[in-house]
Amino acid sequence: MDPIRNPYAPGAGQRPPELAGRDRELAAFEVVLERIARGRPERSLMLTGLRGVGKTVLLNALRSQAISRLWGTGKIEARPDQSLRRPLSAALHMAVRELAPRHRAPKRIDDFLGVLKAFALRAAPGAKLRDRWQPGIDVPAASGRADSGDIEIDLVELLTDAAELAADVGTGVAVFLDEMQDLGTADVSALCAACHELSQSGAPLIVVGAGLPHLPAVLSAAKSYSERLFSYQRIDKLDRIAADQALVAPAAREGVEYEPKALDALFETSGGYPYFVQAYGKATWDHAPGSPITAADVRVARPAAEAELAVGFFGSRYERATPAEREYLRAMADLAAAAAAGSGTPGTAAPDPAVSTSDDHPGGPAAPVDHAVPTADIARALGRRPASLSPARDSLIKKGLIYSGERGTVAFTVPHFGRYLRGQPTDTVS
Ligand SMILES: Nc1ncnc2c1ncn2[C@@H]1O[C@H](COP(=O)(O)OP(=O)(O)OP(=O)(O)O)[C@@H](O)[C@H]1O
Ligand SMILES: [Mg+2]
Repeated sequence: MDPIRNPYAPGAGQRPPELAGRDRELAAFEVVLERIARGRPERSLMLTGLRGVGKTVLLNALRSQAISRLWGTGKIEARPDQSLRRPLSAALHMAVRELAPRHRAPKRIDDFLGVLKAFALRAAPGAKLRDRWQPGIDVPAASGRADSGDIEIDLVELLTDAAELAADVGTGVAVFLDEMQDLGTADVSALCAACHELSQSGAPLIVVGAGLPHLPAVLSAAKSYSERLFSYQRIDKLDRIAADQALVAPAAREGVEYEPKALDALFETSGGYPYFVQAYGKATWDHAPGSPITAADVRVARPAAEAELAVGFFGSRYERATPAEREYLRAMADLAAAAAAGSGTPGTAAPDPAVSTSDDHPGGPAAPVDHAVPTADIARALGRRPASLSPARDSLIKKGLIYSGERGTVAFTVPHFGRYLRGQPTDTVS
């Protein structure tokens, strides 16, 4: 059918034509916003999940909710090895610009911007140039507030001041932090401490985070009370009803229907993972001659969808791995498959709670499920000492390709990554 009218949107952070299956999270966030604006204690949300399940898209939807309630908002994407100061300054600058037109005392806004500038300029002496960049703020930097150089003290002061501006106009400030697992230890710790402090004083400011499944572990390693500070929401693959809705609703708006068997086939291939729902939906639309879309159309389109995923979803990530890391990933993939087939290293590989199991949909998904793999098994399979593989493992975790949910095991952050890897030729060059 006409590719120009194709409604589906596979891509990182791409707004889907229909945000399916996230009503619970959206409703929960409404309550959080309302309670915080009224000075009531409330835990902020932390969205966790595998790659491509829709964390960024949901974070953006939550931000829209905050904006429609006239909150000041800003967004940050954390990067490994980047200090929080600069991106947080930019995000708060944005948030305060949203609040400023409704604020009656421009002087207070300027005072805050002076503090914000001082905070931004107080990057660690050894910080890289990009971390020392200052936001384009015209007012001179203030002194004596949020500029001590101790990130924890500075954050509390800065966020308290931002919250006060929002309280003046009867709303709040929400900072959205994507890829939160990539924050440095000192920044995580300071952020938790600041959130803790602000929540105790009833200040209307929240940090809404999104990250990989091990984000809760990252936060609680920094501050043990983080479990009580945040409400963790597991963002998962869509159930059958939501996956169908994600496909059917956008098509219906274009006057196109699906045969039930086509939806069966699409759910079987996508496993309900939002990125795959969009990718297979898009390819199927392009290949289908007309409405209704049939199971045969899905079959015909499948190789094209898989070729796109191999490049855009899997390949772009695989390319980030060094030859040694690829070897590690391959061993993981083989062990995960063996465990899934029940014929692997007996009794060691446990099903990864973050990854779907075939019990979820009777009849089983077409794609095999990747299990968490004990690192000791990987070492054995590669004939290496476990310690010698630590650099590869740590680097893969840092690159966001794998995570360690349970001690001594690793799992892929990318759904269906094992199957993709098993289809790749082994690297011979190093
Ligand atoms: N609720 C949903 N319904 C339908 N499609 C969705 C939904 N959520 C996300 N998608 C689609 O899934 C894809 C991935 O979304 P997104 O980039 O937000 O995932 P992510 O979890 O942030 O992934 P990553 O960990 O790689 O950053 C996008 O193409 C998006 O349009
Ligand atoms: Mg994302």
